[in-house]
Amino acid sequence: MAFQYPDFGLTAEQRRFAVRGHYYEFAGMDGERGEIWCYTDRISYQHGETATIHVSATAGSFSLQVHRDGAAETIVLERHQLDCGWQDTPDQCSVDGCGWQPTFEIVIDESWPTGAYRMTLVAEGRDGSQISCSHLFIIAPREGLKSGRILQVAATGTWLAYNTWGGSNSYQGITGPNRDQYATAVSTQRPWCRGFVRLPAGAPRVPIEISLRPKTVPRYPHMEWAFATGHSKKYASAGWASYDSHFFRWAELAGYAVDLCSQHDLHFRPDILAGYDCAVFVGHDEYWTWDMRDAVDNYVDAGGHAARFAGNFMWQTRLEDEGRRQVCYKYRARAEDPVYQAGDLTRATNSWEAPEIGRPGALTFGLNATRGVYAGWGGCAPRGVRGFPVYRPEHWAFSGTGIYYGDLLGADSHVFGYEVDGLDYEIRGGLPFPVAGSGAPEGLEVLALGLASQVEESADIPDEDQFLSDEDGRFTAETLFGDASDENLDKVKRGNGMIVNFPRGKGEVFHAGSCEWVAGLLRRDPMVERVTANVLDRYLGVGKDK
Ligand SMILES: [Fe+2]
Repeated sequence: MAFQYPDFGLTAEQRRFAVRGHYYEFAGMDGERGEIWCYTDRISYQHGETATIHVSATAGSFSLQVHRDGAAETIVLERHQLDCGWQDTPDQCSVDGCGWQPTFEIVIDESWPTGAYRMTLVAEGRDGSQISCSHLFIIAPREGLKSGRILQVAATGTWLAYNTWGGSNSYQGITGPNRDQYATAVSTQRPWCRGFVRLPAGAPRVPIEISLRPKTVPRYPHMEWAFATGHSKKYASAGWASYDSHFFRWAELAGYAVDLCSQHDLHFRPDILAGYDCAVFVGHDEYWTWDMRDAVDNYVDAGGHAARFAGNFMWQTRLEDEGRRQVCYKYRARAEDPVYQAGDLTRATNSWEAPEIGRPGALTFGLNATRGVYAGWGGCAPRGVRGFPVYRPEHWAFSGTGIYYGDLLGADSHVFGYEVDGLDYEIRGGLPFPVAGSGAPEGLEVLALGLASQVEESADIPDEDQFLSDEDGRFTAETLFGDASDENLDKVKRGNGMIVNFPRGKGEVFHAGSCEWVAGLLRRDPMVERVTANVLDRYLGVGKDK
């Protein structure tokens, strides 16, 4: 492994801005050259429905290609000389939507299989060079019996929260009196930021891929690359291209019959899960509504199987305006979310582990975000385990891997990071067990366990060189214990990421709690592929009489 951070040609000042600065996509950003942007009226559609496309461009016409993005890349639609024009964009479009007039419509053809459809719009820039943009919509299945098929639920709540287009998202923003606050509500009515739909092969992932010499100050290759190449600052944190696509493509290539839907489908059509043998959640999967959790809990209780290969089950959101707006007050929830003044506190847009909500994440997927968090980047275990340390190699999930006690699962492909979910635990006789009060469901087994951290803390690295600092740790301390004292911080700062398995009602849940599990599928790590297939095959009843 290399000892040097990759160099993308930035100065030290630019590198600092790439990480600390606020940069984002907005209408007019490309100046004289001109630009083209688009969004669809919804994230997903069913067969026979009509997708409305809203386009704003400096050009008067454009051409369009629509690809299905699965095991094969198939063109399903191609159009030329479609009319368009420039449309004004309101300042707070991230919050309120762009409000552009419809430009054209696509009727979702019955012959197009469910999945992700990538739109590429191309036009001529003012200088005669080509300008283009990408967008994505999902074709989701209708309710009905889908024996032998998997339903993958794309982490669209997290895509929305991280989308930098228009200047505000759930992390940074141009919202509030001083135009310096993150948005407490984000709109679906805007383009996806650059890098959410497609990325060049080799775009850096978040976890650090070099060997760190003593006293190395943390750097962030993915944000440096983003700044150097004109991609979204958050391209590696969320989106189809960085996460969900890797499972979908791998599963189709491996011969699984897999359908795709959005989290909005789960929220508004909870019965979409009924009839599937297995529901899958992957990648960075951080934002959920109460109703989405109800949908999964009811499905598993009734005999369904949920397989989550994802990390950071953190925030409750609320959907407004028929799903066009996702509300999440996050760190400011107790001070600003109106449900704290008058309303139903169980629906507070706070961490799932906030006691007033009464529904820790572990009740659904076995693990809690507030016991997990960062691994393998910044100053949070940058020299950490890379793979899941295995404690119960005899478990069915590991069959055929030849893995031993104490081995790392997926270290070669770096599946452990960059945010993980865990539980408070104790080790007895060399095996981890959830402690009383951890929130772990009855019968939960911890199969693997690696260390993570909620704070950057080093006696040798100065505070001004830390990016993550102790902010999240202080928030967790305040959320769980009422104040962010040093004493409470000490209770929460040492996190972990786990693989767990438990029965629930008539069904079962398997959870490998790491955002980066998909890196093992992308990099074709045979160990990670085998475990993934073991889970899917068991849940699909492969090799069993049904
Ligand atoms: Fe996250």
